[in-house]
Amino acid sequence: MIEAKILKRETQTRDIIVLDLVATNGAPLPAFEAGAHIDVEIEPGLTRQYSLCSDPADLGHYRIGVLKDPKSRGGSVKLHELFAEGKTIRIGTPRNLFPLDESAPESILIGGGIGITPMIAMAHHLHAKGKPFALHYCAREKATTAFLVELANAPFADKVHLHFDSGEGTACFDAACDLPDPSMGAHVYTCGPEGFMSYMHGLAEARGYAPETLHQEFFSAEVDNTGGSFEVELAQSGKTITVQEGQSIVAALAEIGVKVEVSCEQGICGTCLCDVLEGEPDHRDSFLTDEEKADNDQIMLCCSRAKSPKLVLDL
Ligand code: FES
Repeated sequence: MIEAKILKRETQTRDIIVLDLVATNGAPLPAFEAGAHIDVEIEPGLTRQYSLCSDPADLGHYRIGVLKDPKSRGGSVKLHELFAEGKTIRIGTPRNLFPLDESAPESILIGGGIGITPMIAMAHHLHAKGKPFALHYCAREKATTAFLVELANAPFADKVHLHFDSGEGTACFDAACDLPDPSMGAHVYTCGPEGFMSYMHGLAEARGYAPETLHQEFFSAEVDNTGGSFEVELAQSGKTITVQEGQSIVAALAEIGVKVEVSCEQGICGTCLCDVLEGEPDHRDSFLTDEEKADNDQIMLCCSRAKSPKLVLDL
């Protein structure tokens, strides 16, 4: 973790704040790739992930946008309460689970609501490299949409297309004209609420885009702990536990005093990854790729379960 100071807190809409973070020692922050996120410790034991939306070429500060979502698990509400300008906080080094495929001849970036954040960093990067791209920003209405001033003044402002559900002078996203012919080889990136991303992917697939050209970033995911109980054997200690229906492996391990490091607790961040020595996992995460899931030799302990009666873990 790195100590950082909140240099600036800007309330951009009723529910969205934008924070500029600098290293407390004044040094440049660690380099990051467009699409990367950082862990932010909101208070001890409460960590959430936020995409970096600043220019990856500028390591003098990181910028994140935080939507206060009272329906979420409470991290963003706490952050809005506690994170005042000047406060010192702890953040993780950037990790990228949403990389650009720079071999693509064109990139179509589509952000829904606060899902615009990683797209801004991607747009900075692609602009600096002189690579063709378009940035589509879909939101309900102007009044609740952040980053509008920043995007209007960005060096890539001519590549930004706004789509408000309310109309407000903009056209709806239209796959037929906003997505290039898939034969041109473009890749499509979406970030936003799950329903938004699957809608956009559906449009792209219907237009003929192949799955490997579609990329998405999950902000949150439902954890589904249904599906019966199973046993977990810990290879290093020889202990065996039963994971009950409705309980995560992490929670079952905690009952016998085995603490697993977690962060998102939703199968998104990769913190709780563990090697599987025997048994077949029931993968319920968004972190592992389909190929990694098919190998069945790793599992995310915060959300995944077992298809076999028992798993043997390298713990
Ligand atoms: Fe993030 Fe498990 S804690 S994937």
